[in-house]
Amino acid sequence: MRIFGIETSCDETAMAIVEGKGDRVKVKANIVASQMKLHEKYGGVVPEVAARQHVETIIPMLSEIVPPNGKGIDAIAVTYGPGLVPALRVGVELGRTLSLLWQKPLIGVNHLEGHIYSNWLKPRYKPMVFPALVLIVSGKHTEIVLMKGYGKYQLLGETRDDAAGEAFDKVARILGLPYPGGPAVSRLAKEGNGSRFDLPRPMIDSKDFDFSFSGLKTAVLYTWREAGEKKALKADMAASFQEAAVGVLVGKMTKAIALTKPKTVMIAGGVAANEHLRSRLGKAIKKQFPKVKFIVPEMKYTGDNAAMIAAAGYFRALKKDFVDPRDLEANPNLGLV
Ligand code: KG4
Ligand code: ZN
Repeated sequence: MRIFGIETSCDETAMAIVEGKGDRVKVKANIVASQMKLHEKYGGVVPEVAARQHVETIIPMLSEIVPPNGKGIDAIAVTYGPGLVPALRVGVELGRTLSLLWQKPLIGVNHLEGHIYSNWLKPRYKPMVFPALVLIVSGKHTEIVLMKGYGKYQLLGETRDDAAGEAFDKVARILGLPYPGGPAVSRLAKEGNGSRFDLPRPMIDSKDFDFSFSGLKTAVLYTWREAGEKKALKADMAASFQEAAVGVLVGKMTKAIALTKPKTVMIAGGVAANEHLRSRLGKAIKKQFPKVKFIVPEMKYTGDNAAMIAAAGYFRALKKDFVDPRDLEANPNLGLV
């Protein structure tokens, strides 16, 4: 089954075609047009600017990726939330229109579910073993989710304020690093000493699986000021922040693994590109839970893309989980469960 995926929830216009067979998905085509440069000067994504750019990009991208009349495509999958409403609407309208025009079924995909399926986009097939514990870490979400099977999710914990990616972005701004902050902070952190500054690990000892990153960001702000904002200390500050943020993520995940005893652990979302997180969580699992399989997405599928949306759509299509194209609407606050 061939699924055409569309993703416009934030600042990437993305389209992809995946082919699904049984529990395998293969990426046939994948295009991502990033608007990063456009939003850089504002230090964040401006929804209306993002939407206008999506509109400009979608038609040329569509003709680049799909044959006329959607020949060979079996269904269309589009992100309908969560995300920025004006941006989401562009993709949703395109999906609805194509579904009616091509007479193909439409699948509304949850962006967070899409991120989870980035773990299925591997060059070599390996069957996925459930239950799987997933750490979703993006620019707007931080959640620990127990995936019991396809489409079966249980939310164990989430952030009470800022998301992990948001904390990286805000710390980057404090340190005068470019947007988006995650890649910039983690690059600089490689040259720094992560134990140079003693920063809090919010909620690390709480009994639940919730997170809080806003206090850590504020601690960075004050510690950095007290240190005189010296250029020579910038890498140490970045490394110390990353150490604290990753420490909390790894701490909560190991507790959640001990409690839920999953067969597989995976990470998903933009922050899943963070090498420190990959390596520290990987090492912790290998040491404490040697039987648990740890999966990370390919780097190119950590950020927003449509291959993951099409993959999530494929597993919904298998269950005939289609929507009437006349009814699909953007939903900015959609949760995974
Ligand atoms: O999943 P994503 O592309 O978009 C959302 O759905 O939000 O995530 C974007 C977030 C941004 O906050 C960005 O700074 C962060 O992912 N990010 C990283 C890294 N690469 C991207 N954070 C930490 N380390 C990275 N290497
Ligand atoms: Zn995302």
